[in-house]
This record gives sequence, structure tokens and C-alpha cells, in this order.
Amino acid sequence: MKKIVILASGNGTNFEAICKYFSKSEKISIIKLITDNKEAQVAERAKILGIDYEIIDYSTFKSKKEFNDYLFDRLKALDFDLMVLAGYMRILPSYIVRYYDNKIINIHPSLLPKYPGVRSIERAYNNKEEYTGITIHYVEEEVDGGRIILQKKLKVDKNWDLAKLEEEIHKLEHQYYPQVIENLLSNSDEDS
Ligand code: GAR
Repeated sequence: MKKIVILASGNGTNFEAICKYFSKSEKISIIKLITDNKEAQVAERAKILGIDYEIIDYSTFKSKKEFNDYLFDRLKALDFDLMVLAGYMRILPSYIVRYYDNKIINIHPSLLPKYPGVRSIERAYNNKEEYTGITIHYVEEEVDGGRIILQKKLKVDKNWDLAKLEEEIHKLEHQYYPQVIENLLSNSDEDS
């Protein structure tokens, strides 16, 4: 059985799509959700889906370093094959990224390198891009700069408002993120 840990900060629709996709899998299991945000809807989703979760409340730590050190300790206590960032809105420090070299992936709602960072869908929309899309990539030390695994392009219909564009982007994310995870884990070694 291949094991996944998911990190998320917000709503958790990607988290839910991944959990549902693998709910009956005999090869891949989601062993834990970690969230840095005690208000996040994603924790509620984990509860309903019966997935183990841990809230590491960022606001209770004295510094970013203390938070990240604690997160690192909690991750090291787990045995997993892949760490999946699904709307995790903090930057992982380089010592965590290096330790889990090739084992962390992220999804981003734009065609990177365009629109890195936050509010990417909105910025693409405001710039009246004809195309935007999603990027799934390895997490490396450069933020939003890791090797790209998959990009899917989306033509922006001129009649769409921002909410419709967001909905279309999320649909693509929910469709492709689970598939990419499945492909990565079935192509990795067969020893577990
Ligand atoms: C997703 O659109 C994801 O691509 C984005 O956050 C959203 C989370 O939605 N991630 C980033 O912007 C990372 N820089 P969700 O909580 O409903 O899955």
C-alpha cells in the first residue's frame, strides 16, 4: 500500500476529490490530513470522510521557524510515500523540501510560470487571458518553480465571470490531481 499525506489550508475541495477517488483503492491510501488553519473547512471534510487529521494551528506558534520545526517533527513521525499539497498556503522551508526530495507535489491554478503566488485565477481573469489552466508540479526550493508534471490548458470563454472561471479551474484540478497521484505512485518502486 502506498501512503499519502495531504497538507491543506482552506476549503479542501481538492482534498475531498482525492479522498473520494482513492476511497476504495487497495493500492493507495490517505493516511493523514495536516492543516495549519484551525478554521479551515478541510478539517470538517476530513471528519466527514473519516480521514485522520491534525490541526497544527499556525497562530499558536511564536515564529514561522517554530511552526515549521514542529511540522517537520510531525511529518517525520509518519511513514508515507508522497506528500500532496492541496491548497496549502504556506511556503515549506528548504530543509523540509530537501529532506523529502521528489516526494512533494503541489497543484497551482495557473499555467506556471505565469501567475505564481496568490489570487492566480483572479489575476489571469483580470488580465483577460485567452487561456489559463492548472499546473501540477514537484515542490522544489524555488516557490512555484519545481519540475512540471502536468499542465492542462483552459480556454476562457468571454461570457464567463470570475466565479465561473474558478469553477472551471477547480473542475480540472479535481479531475487531474488524483490521476497524477495515481500515476506517480504506480510508477514508483513496487516494494510496498
Ligand atoms: C486550489 O485552486 C489550488 O490550486 C490553490 O488553492 C486552491 C485550493 O482549493 N493552490 C494555490 O494557489 C497554491 N499556491 P481547495 O482548498 O478547494 O482544494
